[in-house]
Amino acid sequence: MKIGSDEHKRRFCDQFIASHNRYDPETLAWPELDEAALARLRAIPFWPEVLYTERRAGAIVDAYATTIIDPMVREAVKLQGFEEARHANLLRLMVRRYRIAAEERPLEQIGPDLYRAFADFGYGECLDAFLGFGVFKIARRSGFLPEPMFAIFETLMHEENRHIVFFINWMAWEQARRGRGMPWLRSAVAARYYGRAIGRLLGTIRRGQAENNGTDFSATEASVFLEGFSVRGLVEECCAEHARRMKAFDPELLQPRLLPRLAAVALTGLRLGGRARGRR
Ligand SMILES: [Fe+2]
Ligand SMILES: [Fe+2]
Repeated sequence: MKIGSDEHKRRFCDQFIASHNRYDPETLAWPELDEAALARLRAIPFWPEVLYTERRAGAIVDAYATTIIDPMVREAVKLQGFEEARHANLLRLMVRRYRIAAEERPLEQIGPDLYRAFADFGYGECLDAFLGFGVFKIARRSGFLPEPMFAIFETLMHEENRHIVFFINWMAWEQARRGRGMPWLRSAVAARYYGRAIGRLLGTIRRGQAENNGTDFSATEASVFLEGFSVRGLVEECCAEHARRMKAFDPELLQPRLLPRLAAVALTGLRLGGRARGRR
């Protein structure tokens, strides 16, 4: 299958549309939480940001969908917009049900270049998903919340996984159509977008720290999650989970590869550094 061909387009659109899961967040099996679990859920500092990101995602994807001429691609992107809006609804429901402090701030304007907004958002999702997969795995293993909560979040994680595989293929298909499909150029473009996505993520973290007025996550009920935490352990989990989750997809389709590769290089550095320190 040639990347950028009609066959490629049919395959990444088909896989995305056929794997859409019909459910209503209201009817999910929301568990009763005891006081300790409630305190841990409420201590997670990033719920307002996650809710905002999902609302913004829905707005960007919907806006971009209206500009797409190809009916099959448009249908798939519209479906993604629907799923992003459903993520926001799911989170709203959770916030209300468990009385989590997460106010909704107004959405910032989307820039006039919707292609760029969609691409920026897509690479941002690849970065968030890569990190999210590892954090999710560690949190689940540590029993940070009761398992039924993780079962609900798993629905969301799986959809994000479908989104990033769809996005990476759409991007390559779109670049090929624009005569910019050479692998080296695709990597260079991806590196530029990832650079911006990392910058935005760091900005969000800094803003979050300032807004939390120095409330230390590790000093709260949430500290269970951080027991034995290390950067190397996190990066290892991110890589392993990314690889495991990607196995569920058509191996002929493209997958996000730049971040796992960079992470593998970073891990080698961390391991070598660890060994050198061990010898000293
Ligand atoms: Fe989402
Ligand atoms: Fe998504």
